[in-house]
Amino acid sequence: MNIKKIIAKNLDYNNKNFEDMIIESISSDKGDYSLPCFAMAKEERKSPMLIAEEIKNSIKKNDFIIKAEVQGGYLNFFLNIPKLSETIIKEFSEKSSFKSNEGENKVICIDYASPNLAKYLHIGHLKTTIIGESLARLFEQKGYTVKRLNYVGDYGTPFGKIIGGLKKWGSIEDVKQRGNDALQEYYVRFNKEEADDPNLTQYARDIFKKIENKDPEIYPLYEFIIKIARADSEKMFNLLGVKFDDWRGENYYNTFVPQVVNMLNEKHLLTTSEGAKIVDLSPYDLTPAVILKSDGTSLYTTRDICAVIERKKYYNFDKMIYVTDIAQILNFKQLFKIIELCGFDFYKDMEHVAYGRFSLPDGKISSRRGKQATLVDLAEYATNKAREVIANRTFTIENPETVVKKVTSAVLNYSVLKTERLKDSVFEIDKAFAFDGETAPYMQYTYTRLASILRKYNVNDSECDYSALDETAFGLIKMINTFNETTDIALAKRDPSIVSKRIMDMCKTFNKYYNSTKILEGKNTQINAKIALVKALKNCLAVGFNLICIDTLEEM
Ligand code: ARG
Repeated sequence: MNIKKIIAKNLDYNNKNFEDMIIESISSDKGDYSLPCFAMAKEERKSPMLIAEEIKNSIKKNDFIIKAEVQGGYLNFFLNIPKLSETIIKEFSEKSSFKSNEGENKVICIDYASPNLAKYLHIGHLKTTIIGESLARLFEQKGYTVKRLNYVGDYGTPFGKIIGGLKKWGSIEDVKQRGNDALQEYYVRFNKEEADDPNLTQYARDIFKKIENKDPEIYPLYEFIIKIARADSEKMFNLLGVKFDDWRGENYYNTFVPQVVNMLNEKHLLTTSEGAKIVDLSPYDLTPAVILKSDGTSLYTTRDICAVIERKKYYNFDKMIYVTDIAQILNFKQLFKIIELCGFDFYKDMEHVAYGRFSLPDGKISSRRGKQATLVDLAEYATNKAREVIANRTFTIENPETVVKKVTSAVLNYSVLKTERLKDSVFEIDKAFAFDGETAPYMQYTYTRLASILRKYNVNDSECDYSALDETAFGLIKMINTFNETTDIALAKRDPSIVSKRIMDMCKTFNKYYNSTKILEGKNTQINAKIALVKALKNCLAVGFNLICIDTLEEM
């Protein structure tokens, strides 16, 4: 319910709607909500006090406003809190109360994660993956149909190098045994040896050409290593709780390059510069976009042009969102401009959601997989930490290994979503496992408190006395009441951190309530009212946790 709207509806003054002027009162002696009358006083050349008085006299008879008082230039409203509490708690007694259908029949494509399969996932991939996934869930919450696109980097000479390395020093058997670690080792060694032996460069290029031409000896090898690399990344996505609908990547869309080049030619968008085909974007203050190199091979942007045209045909999206590092801003500006110049109206529906840098404190995690810690290293470290943290706990409902997994992914995912999207952040991983402070385990633990209260609750009747709910409880009720607005804002700003802040606030407020109130004590009618709040809050948190990619636990 919209409390401000309800107050406004009961004021009958010059046909004015005060909804947007009403504010929450700063302290309880000034009521629950207030209407400042200063601006109106200026307009009407009357004193604010007089206006407040006149508005006060216009209040209609209703269930919600108990009393109104003029103080200074304000009209302060004292509301019937038990009545409001009851109305709100009933409104949000189901998880579905947090769902809307504004996005019905609209398709949102989100391109996120999209790692280069020739390399290990690095910790930056955590950010694209979790921001993308959280946005996907937010859109679904509002009724949109979401397509999760993992546009994998499976094209280019790096794959020639990996296959070259495999043929020179490795074997299929080795890859079958050691998986992606073997492939990465070939790649690193190939790069090293290439420095002394320039022939290797041409060798890798030749192999890559054979991949492009679907050479009967090389192409099956390529498919084999892609399968291994993909499976490796999929393990990580499973841990994080992310599942894609579409894995078509650069190699797939590259097959559309000739037809896209033809089209660009027909639209007179291509010019030649030093043998390369480019689109001149200087009228738009952008550097030229290279479409084909002088040797005829395509570039990153070229393949993105193909991909978006094909995706429009395939999904008929209403929005196409790309979640990547802020460093790719120029790429996407060029891409969107070229799509516009081609005359495709859907350029307006393309959007780049960029994010700031993400790093670990220096030297924090050592890597056995290369110079810098990879995402797998980070996840292993986090899993061990999670194991330590729950080592002394006993479980009767949850399976300890599930708890480890859920705590690990919650810590990793929250490390991304606690910070504003565009801000740079450093992941203080050791602190992130504490049960106090602003951490994911703190949130999960709070939820288990709610679950445990409900397990102990054994009153048989259902009559509620909502006056048993105190000010802290009403604070929670107000947060539940405006939760859908919070998710609206987060979605509009494409920033899930807005949701995670709200959830953290709710957890803190609930713990304050829990420490000051004996929820299961008192008269049955009082307990029932408190339990009704606990249930509504648990629904809200369950929905909210899911939106920020944190799994709930029944105990921990
Ligand atoms: N593979 C790229 C990278 O790792 C990201 C791809 C983003 N998506 C796209 N359609 N360009 O940086």
